[in-house]
Amino acid sequence: MSRKPLIAGNWKMNVNHIEAVGLVQKLAWALGDFKYDPTKAECLVIPPFVDLRGVQTLIESDKMPLKWGAQDVSEHENGAYTGDISAEMLVKLGCSYVIVGHSERRQYHHESDFIVNEKARNALAHDITPIICVGEGLEIRRAGEHVPFTLAQVEAALADRSAAEVAQVVIAYEPIWAIGTGEVATPEDAQEVCGAIRGKIAELYDEEIAAQVRVLYGGSVKASTIVALMVKPDIDGVLVGGASLNPDEFAFITRFYEVSQKTN
Ligand code: PGA
Repeated sequence: MSRKPLIAGNWKMNVNHIEAVGLVQKLAWALGDFKYDPTKAECLVIPPFVDLRGVQTLIESDKMPLKWGAQDVSEHENGAYTGDISAEMLVKLGCSYVIVGHSERRQYHHESDFIVNEKARNALAHDITPIICVGEGLEIRRAGEHVPFTLAQVEAALADRSAAEVAQVVIAYEPIWAIGTGEVATPEDAQEVCGAIRGKIAELYDEEIAAQVRVLYGGSVKASTIVALMVKPDIDGVLVGGASLNPDEFAFITRFYEVSQKTN
């Protein structure tokens, strides 16, 4: 079962709607220079909500080989939820992915495993692929509890989902201590947990479903670290924060497959 690598750029709360157009254009140019082949890896940008319409219009009108998604979605269908954005609204904007349960949402917005589960359910119900983020903080890592902690988050996020739904989800392992810190987990650290996540899905569902789920690594991924991560058997892509704001670097990360082919 081959899983198409996913290279996702989470812009977080950076880049206004005017700057977004420039960033996507530069990314498309950089990818073009690199002769990016979208059959080898999916390239996804995840801008703030207010940028989505402009990004959609540009990518569609110029037929750029890029996908776009959102950083969050409401667990509710619609109605009196001031400030929230519904899955239906995201579908209308052509979003194919949405991040749920990013550690920054869990930490600053107190999103529980239950809320993360509800958001993933809602995304799936609207045919949007949730990128479910999981991962431990430094204390848990130091205590050697990172695998059980992360697997418990995975199990909670997937509870009550059917096998067909689970086959579509993307799980992103993002150790909190490695996010935005320059502190990258070693490829072996990342593989340990990404492999355990796939094992957990096999245990909860079956091997066939587990073989379909894409598991990403995230946390200070850079052009210099991508190849060593991507050669690991259970790492199917990356969720990139800071480095996704640099179009040349993000283009380089996206076409990792050329470099890794050359070095293999
Ligand atoms: P970073 O962020 O690459 O800046 O560490 C990753 C993320 O939070 O998704």
